[in-house]
Amino acid sequence: MPDLLALPKTELHLHIEGTLEPEMVFALAERNGISLPFDSVDELRERLEFTDLQSFLDLYFACSIVLRTRADFADLARAYLARAHAQGVRHVEMFFDPQAHTSRGVAVDTVIDGLRDALAEANLEWGITGGLILCFLRDLPVEKALETLESVAHRAGDLVGVGLDSTEVGYPPELFERVYRRARELGLHAVAHAGEEGGPEYVWPALEVLGIERLDHGIRSLEDPALVEALRERQIPLTVCPLSTVRLRGVDTMVEHPLPRMLDAGLLVTVNSDDPSYFGGYIGDNYVAVQQAFDFDLSTMVMLAGNSVTASFASDERKAELR
Ligand code: HPA
Ligand code: ZN
Repeated sequence: MPDLLALPKTELHLHIEGTLEPEMVFALAERNGISLPFDSVDELRERLEFTDLQSFLDLYFACSIVLRTRADFADLARAYLARAHAQGVRHVEMFFDPQAHTSRGVAVDTVIDGLRDALAEANLEWGITGGLILCFLRDLPVEKALETLESVAHRAGDLVGVGLDSTEVGYPPELFERVYRRARELGLHAVAHAGEEGGPEYVWPALEVLGIERLDHGIRSLEDPALVEALRERQIPLTVCPLSTVRLRGVDTMVEHPLPRMLDAGLLVTVNSDDPSYFGGYIGDNYVAVQQAFDFDLSTMVMLAGNSVTASFASDERKAELR
């Protein structure tokens, strides 16, 4: 098997706050004079063991408080993009969680400007293309999501799309119908996390009410044959994150991951990293993990990389270059 890290690829499910490595948590805390609830990098590393999605989210939001300035967001994204470049990424559509920052008094423009600084540099240096997907925290009130969207309406051209993340169970997608309608008016693409911990009943409204073009995780869709058929027939891409699902205990081990069954069902599956500094690997590491678990041949790995190009919101011209 050739080096899967070198295989050119596209990343479509990546939370930029989930690339905050423990060393950077401490460096930014010191730079910004913020005290942390952990004493050392080692103590933080010891906490990277999760029982479910919520146990991860608690740590993810606790660490995100070190991000305050435009330079912080630029440094965070620069570090991710350097690692992504080293693992073959040529195009990335990056999630960010503005409400995790605006709730602490950080302006949304500060976040967007910093992330775009790093993306512009990576484009110049390495030819990496892509953009930003603004995610709403689904466990906060819908009104807050609408306010967040209106606050960036004047710069919708700086965004690729909107998404929905954070705690899933108890917060069904249809709550956000108005938000997604407004996002569409602004010309933004629409994706959502669904079917990660929630069952098929969380995926259907993401498709039918929110009108998503791509489904993040979606692994529990397999429990509903009619849903699988709808996803297959419409060729809705699924952004699967194998190491994430193992670390958040969606499955016990990688060999039990449903990815092969999803491919057998004719779904448009892509492989991504989700929150690489928390889940033990960047995108190339996810490719290596699935290849080893399922003994996939090179043509399957190339097909997965090609699916990510198909599933991206890149222009047709750029897609042709990425293939
Ligand atoms: N699921 C939901 N919300 C998230 C995730 C995830 O995997 N990562 C960061 N926010
Ligand atoms: Zn995610």
